[in-house]
Amino acid sequence: MDNALTANALRLTAGGRRVIDGVSLTLRPGEMVALIGPNGAGKSTLLRLLSGFLSPEQGSCELNGQPLGQWPAGALSRQRAVMLQQTQLRFHWPVEEVVAMGRAPWGKSAEREITRSVMALTGCDALSGRSYAALSGGEQQRVQLARSLAQLWVDEGPQGWLFLDEPTSALDLYHQQQLLRLLKTLTQRGNLHVCVVLHDLNLAALWADRILLLHQGRLVAQGAPQEVIQTEIITKWYNAEVLVDNHPTAGVPHLFLVG
Ligand SMILES: Nc1ncnc2c1ncn2[C@@H]1O[C@H](COP(=O)(O)OP(=O)(O)OP(=O)(O)O)[C@@H](O)[C@H]1O
Ligand SMILES: [Mg+2]
Repeated sequence: MDNALTANALRLTAGGRRVIDGVSLTLRPGEMVALIGPNGAGKSTLLRLLSGFLSPEQGSCELNGQPLGQWPAGALSRQRAVMLQQTQLRFHWPVEEVVAMGRAPWGKSAEREITRSVMALTGCDALSGRSYAALSGGEQQRVQLARSLAQLWVDEGPQGWLFLDEPTSALDLYHQQQLLRLLKTLTQRGNLHVCVVLHDLNLAALWADRILLLHQGRLVAQGAPQEVIQTEIITKWYNAEVLVDNHPTAGVPHLFLVG
């Protein structure tokens, strides 16, 4: 399918275990998709497969109708960016330089205007001049979001496929809300297409258009938040005692742990 990212029957074994087991899916333009599932379900591995950093043993991933493995590395890097679960840098790079690293696939000397725009958009301008290595975990996460968006920046904003692995794990409430609102706004404009791994199911319910639930390498449930965030489904696949009610204002499910 053109102008979509498709995975067909992906399979991957690592350490003698089947980590991804027959996953097929389609990510569509302008969509915000959340990937959820218990620890070790294969979310980070699937993200690596979908973004072309890992090759499947069986099956294939195609972007705009072309297998990821056939894309020239530079062209692929201008179409998709990945924000990993953790990114540590050993050297004392200033925040601006880390954001500017995102421009590497464009082969020009770092465009200061883009770095400035993306830092303003992500609220990282307040971190300007600081050393990345000296930032708190949450501050580093915000800078990594800026770097990923800088990588996809074309003219006035980011365009293409953005994969994020637990981008809110170190963020406070305000920055969780800011990050997810920003991703939602950008996807609704139609130029950015997002696949985000989230452990907080209430964040997924509030902001995702579609949720994919992975368990032991298989996609076991998918659909709109109302279709996936249900007491029986979450209890079954997470083995946790939960109750699902309605969010008081947003018209989406809201999940509670039973104490
Ligand atoms: N290179 C590897 N060698 C051995 N095992 C691996 C390898 N890569 C992944 N695994 C295993 O595959 C499983 C899935 O790992 P993955 O990191 O994708 O899980 P996850 O869903 O992202 O988990 P979490 O929520 O904890 O981040 C884990 O059990 C992990 O140990
Ligand atoms: Mg992970």
